Amino acid sequence: MKVTFAEPKQPTSGVVFIGVAAGEKLSPTAKVLDGITKGALGRAASMGRFSGKLGETVPVLAPAGLEKLTIILIGTGDPKNHDDLAMRKLGAKLVRYMRGTDRRDATFAFDLTGAEKVAQVAYGAVLGRYRFDKYFTKKDKEKQSAPAKLVISVKDAAAARRAYKPLESLGQAMNFTRDLVSEPANIIYPESLAEACVGLRKLGVGVQVLGEPQMEKLGMGALLGVGQGSARGSRLVVMKWNGAAKSKKPVAFIGKGVTFDTGGISIKPSGGMEDMKWDMGGSAAVIGAMHAIAARKAKANVVGVVGLVENMPSSTAQRPGDIVTSMSGQTIEVINTDAEGRLVLADALWYTQSKFKPQIMVDLATLTGAIMVALGHEYAGLFSGDDGLAGKLLKAGEEVGEPLWRMPLNDSFDKQINSDAADMKNVGAGRWGGSTTAAQFLQRFTNDVPWAHLDIAGMAWAYKTKDTMGKGATGFGVQLLDRLVADNYE
Ligand code: BES
Ligand code: ZN
Ligand code: ZN
Repeated sequence: MKVTFAEPKQPTSGVVFIGVAAGEKLSPTAKVLDGITKGALGRAASMGRFSGKLGETVPVLAPAGLEKLTIILIGTGDPKNHDDLAMRKLGAKLVRYMRGTDRRDATFAFDLTGAEKVAQVAYGAVLGRYRFDKYFTKKDKEKQSAPAKLVISVKDAAAARRAYKPLESLGQAMNFTRDLVSEPANIIYPESLAEACVGLRKLGVGVQVLGEPQMEKLGMGALLGVGQGSARGSRLVVMKWNGAAKSKKPVAFIGKGVTFDTGGISIKPSGGMEDMKWDMGGSAAVIGAMHAIAARKAKANVVGVVGLVENMPSSTAQRPGDIVTSMSGQTIEVINTDAEGRLVLADALWYTQSKFKPQIMVDLATLTGAIMVALGHEYAGLFSGDDGLAGKLLKAGEEVGEPLWRMPLNDSFDKQINSDAADMKNVGAGRWGGSTTAAQFLQRFTNDVPWAHLDIAGMAWAYKTKDTMGKGATGFGVQLLDRLVADNYE
């Protein structure tokens, strides 16, 4: 969708949304149109229960004198509540309304002041419009993706355009991540996902792809064990953005990239298994964040490391009871081959800390079903022994509308993953506290570098539409990591 900004002028044709604030009868722009249409807007606004609540809509049907114009009144809510997230929601509501029509372009005219606010509406419209519809071959499905064009009418359009610039590239990064997460596993597998990372070179990101022989040399037995049952080769991709002085230690983001998780020999039930195409959501968030950070030329050094594997059952797959040696040298008894994300991250984390000596590490992973039992689809779980880092993440999450909830780590959970046959096992003693035992496992591979783990299993995919997120891939994590860097490391 193309978003442009234009100085206000009298609309004569097309679909025009007119903003009306809560409690306000008609805004100045609306009043002008109301005059021309002999009071049609006022009548529509006073009809029914229209109160100007954010996102509420009333169509004004074919006003006399302006037959070529479709006017929709849209509530902009209480101006006191016009923060970024509210403005984004308004943009999303607007495009969703358009989706129910067969019109492809719209103008949004309202009397908000402030370039930043208008830019946020545009950003929300881009996020709200997103749909993964490339595989529909029928025209009517295509239509539902309207609008193709949005003109935002605002005083000082040039300032709005400037304010929108960074948000435009953030929107591209978000939708890039959502595409990666939405693609099925016959299209996105370790090699093709690595290729998507290579695409970031055009933004100035240094990208290095490690194949299986290189990982074998490094001793990444934990990651390779997960991928060994798949016909697709495993990959580890390193993405580097150098926006600050060489001497400055980087910030590191690490992502779980299981392009499909069947569970392996500990195979999952077939009902809902298709969801496991998005078990690479953590890696997609890291890739999208690298996109966003590079596109806005952030003044920070950032590395993204993603471990890419497919977890399949086959005659070459690892078995429950197998013992693997991780890059750290620590041995792991694989009790359950479905607890594979932690095995992938074990080597990715160890590699990251030993190679880059980062000031912090944050990993993102669709790691456990248990985190959804605890937090539903409302918060991602945050695990960290570092209060400072945890605080920064909580704040960034709140600012961008990607909320986190802090979960515990402690020694008695840690003890649960001791094994009788190796240094540790990949599941806890029972099923209780499963998200924390998973986090304890990861902590053993951080080598005391300040670290946080985000379990995003409940957040990477939405089963119902909410604000700027339609059903499907959310892009959770992209805005959060970008904001974490912007607020603290530039
Ligand atoms: N990828 C899953 C976790 C998951 C489940 C993500 C549902 C999104 C939706 C992970 O690899 C897994 O299978 N975890 C197991 C761990 C268990 C075997 C200890 C789980 O959560 O059941
Ligand atoms: Zn699994
Ligand atoms: Zn998994």
